[in-house]
Amino acid sequence: MATNFEALRRRFPVLERKTYLNSGSYCALADSVRDAINAYMDDRLLVGANWDVWVMKNEAVRALMAQVLHAQPDEIAVTASASAGLNALASALRFDGPRNKVVISDFEFPTNAQIWHAQELRGARVVHVARSPDGYIPAESFASVIDEQTQLVAVTHVCFRNGARLDIPGIVRLARAKGARVLLDCYQSVGSIDIDARELDVDFAVGGMLKYLLGTAGIGFLYVRGELIPELTPTNTGWFAQEQITAMDITANRPSPTARRFEAGTPAVVNCYAAQAGLEIILEAGLGAIEGRVRSLTRRCLDGLKGIGWPAVTPSDDSRRGAMVAVASRDTAQLFSRLMEQDIVTSFRDANLRATIHFYNSEADIDRFVAAMRDHRARFQPQG
Ligand SMILES: Cc1ncc(COP(=O)(O)O)c(C=O)c1O
Repeated sequence: MATNFEALRRRFPVLERKTYLNSGSYCALADSVRDAINAYMDDRLLVGANWDVWVMKNEAVRALMAQVLHAQPDEIAVTASASAGLNALASALRFDGPRNKVVISDFEFPTNAQIWHAQELRGARVVHVARSPDGYIPAESFASVIDEQTQLVAVTHVCFRNGARLDIPGIVRLARAKGARVLLDCYQSVGSIDIDARELDVDFAVGGMLKYLLGTAGIGFLYVRGELIPELTPTNTGWFAQEQITAMDITANRPSPTARRFEAGTPAVVNCYAAQAGLEIILEAGLGAIEGRVRSLTRRCLDGLKGIGWPAVTPSDDSRRGAMVAVASRDTAQLFSRLMEQDIVTSFRDANLRATIHFYNSEADIDRFVAAMRDHRARFQPQG
């Protein structure tokens, strides 16, 4: 059955008041996510400590997240953030041998660079792959950098600055040829692009729930390919990472045989409620349908901006962009504020204004944004 995007849109009250093009920072809140948070509050008020239910909420999030990535629940750690997942993974890797190189790209979100640079204290060498003169980073640019000393290629799926989407299958092929592993930072894509972790053949993937997964801040995930789990023992750990959480054994570290070994302490219970409700909407809408809808809305936005003579910096090729349309501006902060005054919610990074688009946006949202940009063009388009 075709997804009814109009009906789904009605579940996000902010969309009646605002042209909300900011899902790449923080999603619109759905009625059912609010209800889930309220259900937690009711539990606290009326039951007190409903511990067993709460622990199961973490498991519900794990199972739903596995569905989103076409993975197994045992391959998912539910973490406090993408950064927490990266740190747990980094702590399980060793950089004291000849394979000590980590390859990242110029498109990384800071956390997926800083955490690898932090491993320099432990012997890691971090090498950056630069963007080409046209602003993109084709897979070929990784070819001369990934070598026999490369342990990990840690790359973003979609760049948070400009919406460019990397050629992950091409990068994975290069990594495999040299025996390197691949980590995908899919925070800017998961929930808007159908990601099959097995088919993409990545070893690890990190992200979180507050953007296209429709949940909240303070909860994320780490996917670890099942076959790798037994050989990776994080030193960044805690009692919820143990094989038996309730064993309360203080004599040894006995990590869970599953990806739960990358977790740490008490789960963020209220965030699990919100994340579960958000993930349920994503799965109800269907990731294939969402991806198609987002592709057509971003296409409309790109074409509209071209039509007003202010083309986006985001790649136009469908396979090279995510759910974002970024536009260079002379003064992004001012442009952002002018749009905000018109109830058009965007965001900005560096010299780019970002319209980040989800399935719940409409054609009318896009047209309203483009019309406003036409009015602001003389003042804010870069000169020359
Ligand atoms: C691509 C990407 N990676 C990582 C992060 C950071 O995630 P966290 O704050 O959960 O560590 C973000 C947040 O905006 C992001 O866009």
